[in-house]
Amino acid sequence: MTPQPSISFAKIAPSKKGSAVLLAAEKGAVSDAAKAFDPSGALKRAFSITAFSAKLASVVEVLAPEGSPLNRLVAVGVGKADTISEHDWLKLGGAVAAHFRKADDVAVVVDLPGAKASAEDAARLAAGIRLRAYTFDKYKTKKDESDGKTDDNKASKFTILCANPSAAKKAFAAMDAVVDGVILARDLVNEPANKLGPVEFAAEAKALEKLGLKVEILTEKEMTKLGMGALLGVAQGSPRGARMAVMQWNGGKAKDKPIAFVGKGVTFDTGGNSIKPAAGMEDMKGDMGGAAAVVGLMRALAGRKANANVVGIVGLVENAVDGNAQRPGDIVTSMSGQTIEVLNTDAEGRLVLADALWYCNQRFEPKFMINLATLTGAIMVALGQSHAGLFSNNDELAGRLTEAGQLTQEKVWRMPLGPEYDKLIDSKNADMKNIGGRYGGSITAAQFLQRFVKETPWAHLDIAGTAMGSPTNEISQSWASGYGVRLLDRLVQDYYEG
Ligand code: BES
Ligand code: MN
Ligand code: ZN
Repeated sequence: MTPQPSISFAKIAPSKKGSAVLLAAEKGAVSDAAKAFDPSGALKRAFSITAFSAKLASVVEVLAPEGSPLNRLVAVGVGKADTISEHDWLKLGGAVAAHFRKADDVAVVVDLPGAKASAEDAARLAAGIRLRAYTFDKYKTKKDESDGKTDDNKASKFTILCANPSAAKKAFAAMDAVVDGVILARDLVNEPANKLGPVEFAAEAKALEKLGLKVEILTEKEMTKLGMGALLGVAQGSPRGARMAVMQWNGGKAKDKPIAFVGKGVTFDTGGNSIKPAAGMEDMKGDMGGAAAVVGLMRALAGRKANANVVGIVGLVENAVDGNAQRPGDIVTSMSGQTIEVLNTDAEGRLVLADALWYCNQRFEPKFMINLATLTGAIMVALGQSHAGLFSNNDELAGRLTEAGQLTQEKVWRMPLGPEYDKLIDSKNADMKNIGGRYGGSITAAQFLQRFVKETPWAHLDIAGTAMGSPTNEISQSWASGYGVRLLDRLVQDYYEG
């Protein structure tokens, strides 16, 4: 497996070995401290040869610069030095990570011409390095030819040189915990379903106890007792059982009501008897992307010792086909007491969430509930793969999520809810059916969930397009993006701590 890059922080001083990265603003301007790494002006020459525009995350490289002990001197463009956004710093880190191979020793000079780079900025760049460097290659037994140049077992070593290394190190500690959460979420989604079923996923959640989380695992027996007929109906076609993981991080005041996150954890979705077409079905190993984001978030919050009381609940099932699988037309009774006519066994995520949301609300009476789910293909038809669908019964919560989405660039786009849509899931034979008509498929799915949240402020994020298979970018080259961890960590940090 590719080892993770190591990252440390130090004062700015010209290095005598390895490689150095400088930040270059418009017209190729670099700071005085950065110039000291390039006494012969080799980079300046390279700028003019390449007509370097210093566009954000663009790169120019000089190998074996004359009169320097360095192997490589690399400049990364920042655009205008005084308008770099928070997210741009992550992208800059991504550009740095992308440029180096394993076993490189790299000094990154975080210093700008005519503007200040804060300790936070330096820490964000470091976080960007880790996010970009992630690969899922644990099942490759041979190393990749294309990067076989260096020792496969050695990670690159990045030293971030900045004005206040101890402050940067401190800022990085919290961001590092969030990156750990993102990487955990990516790992869970990338993992194939033969390795990660409900039981194995639950064990991953349980393992977070070492970070100080309280984790309970409900078994089928306990869920049967609780009356979770909707979730268990989905699970009954699989020999691999069902679980619910209930995670608690109590970092806030003892009497404070918690906030809650709930995830769809379908470890594989065949569609059940309403079976999916063969083409692309392999992607359904990622149908636990909502649950992965919740577990990743809990890891992030515990890792940075967030000052908040937070509950994370994931419903874990496999939607398989066998003689015992549920059939179209079956009627199940959810924990809420409401009955559901299952007209399509492939609309299973909402059945899992119905019981998880109800349980969460009953037991914890949270300030709000946010659920995440790879719920509908229709959300990709509506929004493509760069925004998650946001559905909410609460404008304040929706606004906050939108804001956090802008800051983290894990974007959301609000979609409508309303009685016209709700009536589309009324059923002749039961209290509701689990599919609406042909139109507005993401909305009728959301209406279904809303029937299990009562008056509690609630938001549903449909992440079918963003959690997996979305275009790679500066900070993710992985099929599984880890979408949602940074978004929700930011929401917690900005509005629900302290
Ligand atoms: N897990 C799927 C949704 C999905 C599709 C996620 C593609 C990611 C990529 C979900 O369980 C599902 O099958 N939804 C159906 C609902 C339909 C039967 C009403 C869908 O979207 O087709
Ligand atoms: Mn399905
Ligand atoms: Zn599904």
